[in-house]
Formats: sequence, structure tokens, C-alpha cells
Amino acid sequence: MQAEQAQAQPQPTEPTYVWWQRGIIYEVYPHSFMDSNGDGVGDLKGLISRFDYLRWLGIDAVWLSPIYPSPMKDFGYDVADYTAIHPRFGTMEDFDRLVRETHAHDIKLILDFVPNHSSDQHPWFIESRSSRDNPKRDWYIWHDPAPGGGPPNNWLSNFGGGAWEYDPKTAQYYYHAFLREQPDLNWRNPQLVEAMLNVLRFWLERGVDGFRVDVLWHLIKDDQFRHNPPNPYWREGADPYQKLLELHSTDQAEVHAVVTRMRRLVDQYQDRVLIGEIYLPVERLVQYYGIDLSGVHVPFNFQLLLAKWNARDIARIIAEYEAALPKGGWPNWVLGNHDRSRIASRVGPTQARLAAMLLLTLRGTPTLYYGDEIGMRDVEIQPAKVQDPFEKTVPGLGLGRDPQRTPMQWTAAKNAGFTEGEPWLPIAEDYPQINVEAERDDPFSMLSLYSRLIKVRRCESALEVGVLEPVETTGDLLSYVRRDGESAFLVALNFGTKPETLNISGKGFEGRITLSTWLNRSADSVRGDLYIRPEEGLLVRLLTQTQSGDVLI
Ligand code: NOJ
Repeated sequence: MQAEQAQAQPQPTEPTYVWWQRGIIYEVYPHSFMDSNGDGVGDLKGLISRFDYLRWLGIDAVWLSPIYPSPMKDFGYDVADYTAIHPRFGTMEDFDRLVRETHAHDIKLILDFVPNHSSDQHPWFIESRSSRDNPKRDWYIWHDPAPGGGPPNNWLSNFGGGAWEYDPKTAQYYYHAFLREQPDLNWRNPQLVEAMLNVLRFWLERGVDGFRVDVLWHLIKDDQFRHNPPNPYWREGADPYQKLLELHSTDQAEVHAVVTRMRRLVDQYQDRVLIGEIYLPVERLVQYYGIDLSGVHVPFNFQLLLAKWNARDIARIIAEYEAALPKGGWPNWVLGNHDRSRIASRVGPTQARLAAMLLLTLRGTPTLYYGDEIGMRDVEIQPAKVQDPFEKTVPGLGLGRDPQRTPMQWTAAKNAGFTEGEPWLPIAEDYPQINVEAERDDPFSMLSLYSRLIKVRRCESALEVGVLEPVETTGDLLSYVRRDGESAFLVALNFGTKPETLNISGKGFEGRITLSTWLNRSADSVRGDLYIRPEEGLLVRLLTQTQSGDVLI
């Protein structure tokens, strides 16, 4: 009888987590990862040849920046054909092989989807601009001049200057949030929406595991095209785009219906992920999870890219983000990408080790940028070598993105083992020391730190999916606990250049050091005062008492 009753009791179900919640995302900028044919530009075969490395490193998913046919005015973010491969990167056969190889290495493949704008060389735009009554006219955003002449409103291009381009042939302006060669698509047009959803279907059928959606918050613009208001905080010398607040040109309420359409489609396939590139304040960002989580799975959280690098600010960011997440919304953290200065340059090489520990011990999917795991730094680019259109259109303000896009440093051989030819961007001078080969065998290297952090994270559910409990933030010290059931870790990060102590017994903790960013610290048991050296990060496995009094390690 008792046994029957026991059977009738509903068993508590363990929460289950999917791959993109447990996993680590690694961004590959295809131009710069690995060149297989000596033309100085990375390619798909090159990437395929490096999967053993990625497997060794322990990442779970590759997000590949655009590989589609493109005039490369914005290095692939100006797409001329959404369902083909640029010959510079390979063929569709290479792509199919890439999918197979990625999966054979137990890695997922996430493509970059660029729906806000196409290239002006896309056949759709060529048609659209051909006449006012062309069926594809409305696939882009055309507008009459303002009543007195000139652009329809004051909106600015992200890459400098106005966002409207006059087309004399049809005497209207088209809108481009980025380069004039990147006309914005009109997501209020149902045929355009259908065509773009078909693009997603095309790649899903080919086996990709998801998409990172470029500038997702831009897709819908104000239907009345009202002027954007001035930004009272803008100062001379800052990015000219910031002169106006993008109140009417982005983040319109109707965008969420579009996101839901994408999500519904992606959900028709098993186990896929939708990630949104969204630069918005946290309370707006989290709206992109959608009502009842019908939006993107992962609205990229860029706060670590933008944060003031100190314990207090980072503690505040973590707390505000955790508090803002909707019920069931899975967090994520991004430490670097192809648009922002590299972490080792933003905060310096020692603090970059702390940043690695922070990224890989926070709650939520971590995204790291190729080369950050070996401590690559921004490379100063001589004016004659500048490639990035942003640096060309708004020169001298340090906005150019070439410095963080230089070739991956694989070995100490010529061109860092990236290419047999002339690399498309200069290779960092530090490559004889900062490279994969040299760092793999050096226990104190950045790469060893990353690989150890990743391994611990992958083995420990407390770090992968556990809750985050803030412990103490005083002065330069940031500390928190990650906990899943009986297993718990304390993370203590000293952002300052003086030693710090944290009285852990006072918090009821004792433990054993698992990992230090200094690496040459033994696996000491700790109780009482935990001593944290200048700019050191510590990961401490906490000993927890079971009910029977046994200590679990
Ligand atoms: C965001 C991308 O990350 C960036 O590289 C690109 O220039 C713009 N979107 C425009 O597509």
C-alpha cells in the first residue's frame, strides 16, 4: 500500500536546459579566422580546418558573421544574395561540409541574418529603384522629399551623415540606417516579410542551428517618419550619430510582431536558437524576449562591452539585469564582438583575465569573440590600410573597427599561421608570443586560463545553470555565489591593485580554491579570511553540509 502511495506521488521534475542555455557561443569573423587558399582572407575551408581547436577549447556554438555574396562595402553586412555563399569564402558545397563538420565535432552553427538592409546591388533593390511602380518598390523605404525640398526628416546614418539618399531617376529618397549602399528593407511590406522568412527556411533546411539577427531593434521605423529629437548629452568629438536620440527610427512597438513571426518559424524546427543584436537600455532590451517568451531566445546583452570597468558598476549591472529578466527569460553575456574594441585593449591584459572569469562564471550564456581567448589586442591600422567604412566616413574619432578584426594568431610562423598570402588586415606585432600554439602549452597563458574556465564550467551545473547569489561588493571586490542544489561556487574578483580580503566564514562558507586567474595558486582550503591578490579572480568550490553532516566537495 505504502509503495503504491509512493508511486502516486508526483516526482519533482528536474528543470531541463537546452544547448544554447548550457553552451558557450564563439563568434568567428570569417575574413580573419583562417585562410586556406592563400588569398589573405579567411574562408570556410579554413574554418573547417580549425574545428579540432574549437573542440579542444570547449565552446559549443560558432556564430559566423556573414558569408553571403556581397560587394563588401560593410564586410558582408551588405548582402547581395541571401541564399548563396560569397566565392571569397567558398561554395555551397563547402558550406554543406561546414554544417556536417560542425556537427561532427558536436558544435552548433549559428549564421548571421541581416534583415534590416540589403546591399544596393541586391536584385531586389535594383528592381525597387527602377521605377515608382515596380512591384518591389515598397520592399524598401522610399519617401518624397520634404515639402520645401531636401530629405524627408532629420534621421542620421550610423556611419555618418544623413540617412536619406536622393535617387534622381524616380525623384524620391530612400532610407539607409547604415551606408548608402545598405538601403533599409521595408518590414511593413508583407511580401518582403515572406521573402525574408523564406531565407530563414532555406538555411534551417540546410541544417543551421540558429541565427544571430543583425540590428534587430531597427527593423520597424515610425510610420509617420517624425524627426528624431536632439540628444542633450551629445558633445563635440563624440560619434555624430549620437547627436540625435533614435526615438522614431528604431525600437518601435510593431517590431515585436515581426520578431514573433521569426520565432514561430524557427520553432518549427527542432532545437534552434534565435539571437537578437540589440543595443538598448536593459528595460527595453528585455522586451525582446517577447510576451510569454514569444520573442528571441537570446537578446544579446552587451553591458559588459559598455560597462565602466569596476566592481561597483559591474555589480549594479548584474543586479539590474537579473531583476529585469522576465520569468523564464534566459540571461546571456557578451564580452567581445567585431564592432567593439577587444577586451584586452579595453581593460588591459591582467584585467582581461578577470573578465574571462567573470564571463564564464556569470549566470547565462556567454559569448566570446575569436582571439580574445588568447588575449589578442586591438591593432593600430595605418591610414593606408584602413578597410572599415566607418573609419572612412567618420575618420579620426577612433570609431573604426579594423583594430579588433585582425587575423587570428595561430602560430609564431609567418603571418601568424593565418595565411600563406598577404593578410587583408595587418597581423598584430605581438603574434610571436600571443598565439594559439605558444599558449596551448603554457599553463600561465590566457588560453590556458580560458580552457580551464571553460572545462570547469562545462562540468559544473552550478556554473552552467545555477542561480546567482550576490555576496558582497566593497571597494574593488565583487563576489557572488553560483549554486545548483548541493553544488556551489564562490567567485571573488578583485578589480583593484591592492589586495582584498573577504571574510567567508562570516558568510557561513568554507571551501577550496578551484581556479585563480593568477593560476600559480595551489588548491588551498579556505575558511576565515579569503585573501585575494591584486587584480586576482578566484573560483572557490564551497563545501556544503548535507543533512547527515557529511561534507560534500
Ligand atoms: C551590426 C553589425 O554587427 C555591424 O558590423 C554592421 O556594420 C551593422 N550592424 C550594419 O549591418
